Amino acid sequence: PDRPIRVAITGAAGQIGYALLPLICTGRMFGMSQKVSLHLLEITPALTALSGVVMELEDCAFPILDSILATDDPAECFKDVDVAMLVGSFPRKAGMERKELLSKNGAIFHGQGEILEAVASKDVKIVIVGNPANTNALILSYFAKGIPVQNISALTRLDHNRTVGLVAKKLGTSVANVEGVVIWGNHSSTQYPDVSNAKVKGFSQSIVEAMGGVEYLEEAMIPHIQGRGASIIAARKLSSAMSAANAACDHVRDWLLGSNGRIVSMAVHSSGEYDIPKGIWYSFPVQCSRGGKFTIVQGLNVSDFSRARMDATAKELTEEREAALSLYQ
Ligand code: NAI
Repeated sequence: PDRPIRVAITGAAGQIGYALLPLICTGRMFGMSQKVSLHLLEITPALTALSGVVMELEDCAFPILDSILATDDPAECFKDVDVAMLVGSFPRKAGMERKELLSKNGAIFHGQGEILEAVASKDVKIVIVGNPANTNALILSYFAKGIPVQNISALTRLDHNRTVGLVAKKLGTSVANVEGVVIWGNHSSTQYPDVSNAKVKGFSQSIVEAMGGVEYLEEAMIPHIQGRGASIIAARKLSSAMSAANAACDHVRDWLLGSNGRIVSMAVHSSGEYDIPKGIWYSFPVQCSRGGKFTIVQGLNVSDFSRARMDATAKELTEEREAALSLYQ
């Protein structure tokens, strides 16, 4: 737009927020000719920390940063926003049951969904980063029926980028040469990173074969990607934040400005594509065109190997949906 684009970020004083804000304000998301208004949300106890982040943003003197709103009131934060990046969520604590996690986060995304529907721009684009991201998207949509399902997505771009990085490293090429990897399903350890439709510049043979065959996928690549988040926590004692923020930035940029024909992975509402159950938020291969439209790429080859893994992650999401909605029915 001609005016500054309004971007809401929840959990803005957290780790991902701290890595994401400079990406937005240096033009990585919307370019250097688009001004940005930041609408930052935190819970009340984190407002002091957030005020420090605001001081730092001011001290960066970013030319495209038009204004900053920092608040603990979601209705104030979400007023007229064009993009909402929902990063803040309730972290899983040791010994916490999945159901308890769904219930705590259900309350957050239920409330934020209703408020976004009431006060955000009519065409607001929403990306959920906070976990369990796919099912948080489903809950948000359930309570915000006035927001088109196509405007609600969850982040699996980090898993996608991790897979691109791994393919490039394994084949000794640049990430720029890798196209067509897909993350199917849930942003969890059941996700299926799929390279069977990938193409890599300079490689004429099948990428599965070039990588070391199905055995390599099964024993090394798939567990590597599924467990990458846990490996980072083990090494850093903190969950991935730089790469998560970078992926969230890629997700919004491609969604709004177009993916230039490239396939990217986004968790979006399933209408039954690839025989995935309808109504869950499932990560699919998508292509985005300028202006915030995307289409799920149809007709990719699905081997029996892929099918079994695509169904396993769909089953987990169906179970999460039942557990989440049972709290409200
Ligand atoms: P963090 O704990 O550093 O920051 C989260 C922030 O959210 C905290 O400052 C907290 O006060 C705030 N918050 C909590 N509830 C809120 C609410 N109702 N409204 C507004 N703010 C709220 O966590 P970090 O590392 O920034 O991660 C955030 C989330 O992203 C976590 O749920 C994490 O599991 C998830 N994540 C998702 C990834 C993905 O690929 N989808 C990748 C990495 C992390």
